[in-house]
Amino acid sequence: MRILDKNERIINELKKIISEKSNVKAYVHSFGCQLNVSDGEKIKGVLKKIGYSFTENANEADLIILNTCAVRENAEDRVFGIVGSMKHLKDENPNLIIGISGCMTAQNHIVERIKKSYPQVDVVLGTSAINSLPRLLLDCINGRGFAADTEEYADFSEGLEQVRESSFKASVPIMFGCNNFCTYCIVPYVRGRERSRKSDDIIREVKQLVSDGYKEIMLLGQNVNSYGNDLDDEISFPQLLRKLNEISGEFIIRFMSSHPKDATTELLDAIWECEKVAKHLHLPVQSGSNQILSAMNRRYTAENYLEKVEYLRAYDKDFSLTTDIIVGFPNESDDDFEKTLELIRKVKYDNIYSFIYSKRTGTKAAEIDDKISDEKKSERMRRLLEIQREITSESYKRFIGKTLRVLVDGESRKKPGFLTGKSNEFIIVEFEGDSSLIGRFADVKITDAMNWAVAGKLLK
Ligand code: SAH
Ligand code: SF4
Ligand code: F3S
Repeated sequence: MRILDKNERIINELKKIISEKSNVKAYVHSFGCQLNVSDGEKIKGVLKKIGYSFTENANEADLIILNTCAVRENAEDRVFGIVGSMKHLKDENPNLIIGISGCMTAQNHIVERIKKSYPQVDVVLGTSAINSLPRLLLDCINGRGFAADTEEYADFSEGLEQVRESSFKASVPIMFGCNNFCTYCIVPYVRGRERSRKSDDIIREVKQLVSDGYKEIMLLGQNVNSYGNDLDDEISFPQLLRKLNEISGEFIIRFMSSHPKDATTELLDAIWECEKVAKHLHLPVQSGSNQILSAMNRRYTAENYLEKVEYLRAYDKDFSLTTDIIVGFPNESDDDFEKTLELIRKVKYDNIYSFIYSKRTGTKAAEIDDKISDEKKSERMRRLLEIQREITSESYKRFIGKTLRVLVDGESRKKPGFLTGKSNEFIIVEFEGDSSLIGRFADVKITDAMNWAVAGKLLK
């Protein structure tokens, strides 16, 4: 019997069991990057098919799935903390099923720790095993105890339904895995090698989303710039952008992440020339020191990186850039760190996402004997954030007097009557307006700049 036929049979069996109980609820929470959030939406798609409804409150759930991230140690610690605190829920509801999915499950030492120390966990679902979820749940419900599938499956998710978090912003993975092996990073170990989806499938999905009313399409991959390299006769990422740009409708295209070594002029031209592609690039630099970049195996220099920034800024001197920075890579010297500060001052990012280096078992960098103290790393982080705050508030002033097109996200949490959204340039914009605008584009004339957002007036 084909696996999918078998799955249908299991789903039907589960449907019957679930329909005999009333209002069976699942709580699914995703940690980590947007690719993981997208997997969480697929997990929800499978559960919906089985007959689960969803809750945002773990305390009232009959099934809890924690879709985990392994990129830094504190992400893992948080999950272990939460699982620990869920033990009492099991005492209150003996039928409760607790499952762990996502990147943590791809590390044997983590699965062993779960089995040994967290008996409240019933299900472990590997990163490419979403199709096995019905089988694992059925085993669990039938009292067969702990059920796990951490096998690697190819092409597992094409055609899986998704329960999307938003009705107007959709993420569309275009590829899975990573081949880059940056020496600090666990992702290639937990997500496997690069696998691109077929461009026809991606284009069909985006067309459908746009006709369903989605206004923002976020293309996802650990390095979208190597899209298609693993397939014969497939188009490149810049070509994919151009094809998606031709789809008619009012929507914006974003993408993440883009590795600087593969950010070609072909890509930068496409960003500038495609009117639906956001005029913002997230280009993770990680460090401004060539020595550290080389130890990280990033395969570009600060100079190569700055050339790409200059190329974009020849199109528009204010082109909006954001980045990721790791502070305290093993043996990063004061001089190395100063070079990072120098680079962020030169580029004038609108925003940076900075992380203190976290040692990941199994990676190359974990073998380095690091001589830098935690205090020093925290002090560097503090300085980096302080300098970036100044850069952000200075650079946001360029928007005063300009009109920005904003996709409205929701009501401001702090200011009643105010809305917030993201501009094309990926800047948070706050303005007074009616909640009927949520999920739509609005033109806002900017009057003020803060160090985290800009504010303005809605134009009629
Ligand atoms: N594929 C993406 C990154 C995904 S991980 C890219 O290359 O841009 C997101 C960010 O987490 C990375 O850019 C890096 O800044 C950070 N990161 C990854 N591993 C880390 C580690 N071991 N310690 C601290 N930060 C890390
Ligand atoms: Fe990690 Fe580097 Fe791959 Fe990004 S490109 S996921 S940082 S190995
Ligand atoms: Fe984390 Fe996995 Fe994403 S490790 S950053 S959730 S690919």
